[in-house]
Amino acid sequence: MAFPEGFLQELKMRNDLSEVAAPYVTLRRRGRNMVGLCPFHGEKTPSFNIYTENGSFYCFGCGVGGDVISFIMRIENLDYVDAVKFLAQRAGMEMPENSYDDSMSKLRRRIYEANREAARYYYKTLCQPLGREGLDYLHGRMLSDRTIRHFGLGFADDDWTSLTVYLKSLGFTEHELVSANLAVPRRSGNGVFDRFTNRVMFPIIDLRGNVIAFGGRIMTDQKPKYLNTSDTPVFKKSENLFSLNNAKNAGTRTLLLCEGYMDVISVCQAGFTNAVATLGTALTVEQAVLMKRYADEVVICYDADEAGQKATARAIPILRKAGLLVRVLTIPNGKDPDEFIKSQGADGPAAFKAIVEKSGNDTDYRLQRLRADFNLDTPDGKVQYLEAASGVIATLSSAIEQDVYATRLCKEFGVDKNAFMTQLQKRTRRRDRESSRREQQKIRADLSGRNDRINKDKAKAPRSSSAEEALIVYLIRNPDAAEHIAGEIAPEQFQNSLMRRYYEYFLNRIRDGRDAMMNVTADFTADEANKIYQMLGKQAGIAQTRQSLEEYIKVIREESGKLKRDDVGAMSGEDLNRYLEQLRKAKK
Ligand code: GTP
Ligand code: MN
Repeated sequence: MAFPEGFLQELKMRNDLSEVAAPYVTLRRRGRNMVGLCPFHGEKTPSFNIYTENGSFYCFGCGVGGDVISFIMRIENLDYVDAVKFLAQRAGMEMPENSYDDSMSKLRRRIYEANREAARYYYKTLCQPLGREGLDYLHGRMLSDRTIRHFGLGFADDDWTSLTVYLKSLGFTEHELVSANLAVPRRSGNGVFDRFTNRVMFPIIDLRGNVIAFGGRIMTDQKPKYLNTSDTPVFKKSENLFSLNNAKNAGTRTLLLCEGYMDVISVCQAGFTNAVATLGTALTVEQAVLMKRYADEVVICYDADEAGQKATARAIPILRKAGLLVRVLTIPNGKDPDEFIKSQGADGPAAFKAIVEKSGNDTDYRLQRLRADFNLDTPDGKVQYLEAASGVIATLSSAIEQDVYATRLCKEFGVDKNAFMTQLQKRTRRRDRESSRREQQKIRADLSGRNDRINKDKAKAPRSSSAEEALIVYLIRNPDAAEHIAGEIAPEQFQNSLMRRYYEYFLNRIRDGRDAMMNVTADFTADEANKIYQMLGKQAGIAQTRQSLEEYIKVIREESGKLKRDDVGAMSGEDLNRYLEQLRKAKK
């Protein structure tokens, strides 16, 4: 079920991880390794490591690790086969003959193709008499033909099967169309019908130019106003952004984050091609991290209404955490960007540019919003506001930043800066205490294995599990010790079933004379493979001597011998056999 290992070996050799990663991460050399800011989670101090000696990576911040293939899978959002193809292409290598093509990867490709044909079909319909209503609607919303073409907008007509019939005529199966969420099975179980009817259509395009999903807007006041493609094998709503494919080429490290399709298109038509939107959901961490790859600063351009302001308040910490600078656009008269631009007629673009330039940063925005909660005409109200404001300022991580806002507030309210700073320092200390407590909790939970979904046994047998992990790392690093280790410890002596699986797997590979790690990404689930790289990453700075090996062996033996006679009565036949085997080994 895999590529020939010789091929993979060459693929990895010709795709040096540091070079492959360079466009996505700024790397600095540290000793033999490279470090940088992790591209998979937001951070301000680098904890992403590339180990050049074995071509693997590990992030101490988010615990993600892998080889060059899993790096590309994650960062380009590809499955295993497509990531291998990506790297083969990069290195100018031919894919092996009758290359492995699992059914999932084939289905994904078919979905991309069906989506592309659907987008063409919707666009063609829009330009025909049948699509008149859609075209009138878009023109009515002041979109030019050029904009319509640029975004590939289209029209799904009122017939419930036209797209399905068309795509079937091109050879797509019902299963493929349903998987793409372009069609929906009939309740009777007999055949399928179109998912989208009587709507103007907005294709969602990923960073490689694939059509991955659609949004469709109804042209009346009916509900639901927008219908989006549900999650499919090629589309996860929470991990994509509308129009990022355009915005990434806008030639600026600033993104305008809007609420919806129409805002992005309108803003883009006004000359700002750096606009993106979440797809009808609250902003997620994944989306923020994705933006950070293309931007240093995000201007939140949400609706001026209460819902938009709530969403703004929720988005700010998510963007900040991803390491982005944040500004907040204030749109006059409770409008959204699209309505605002239109309301200015021919001056729309200039007027929008002016409010973007005037937009303050997130701290200004939060301090400003807070004012509404207090009566600043009374001394009590002022005191309460200042206390609340010190809470906002205390969340800033830089002392200089804190000082700037403190100074300004004190001047405005005529209060003594020393008193304010004392209050602020108290708050900041509390913040630091809380975050270090959370950190410690996390470390404790990690150590105990309580947070480890795939490694449930760790909490049950922590001492043995730790020794087993260390033993596996030792084995991977020192394949020449395999025979010795195998003679000392049998898989049955492992208390942790995941570790036992790893142990058997690596022993077998090494005994077959194969490279231990070469095929880990294909042979395990993503979580299980990640765990192995995590174990390697955590031990990376630690020298494992022959003496430490003997210590692991001792611990594993001790722990496996701990089963008491009392337990034996309650054992299943299988457990009993394992126990007897352990005793035999322990005696050796
Ligand atoms: P227009 O009314 O066409 O200008 O849309 P808008 O962009 O102003 O929409 P609105 O602010 O109401 O919503 C913002 C975004 O939320 C939209 O672009 C959609 O992605 C999403 N959305 C809005 N209404 C619905 C809905 O009824 N269903 C779903 N799934 N998403 C919606
Ligand atoms: Mn709108």
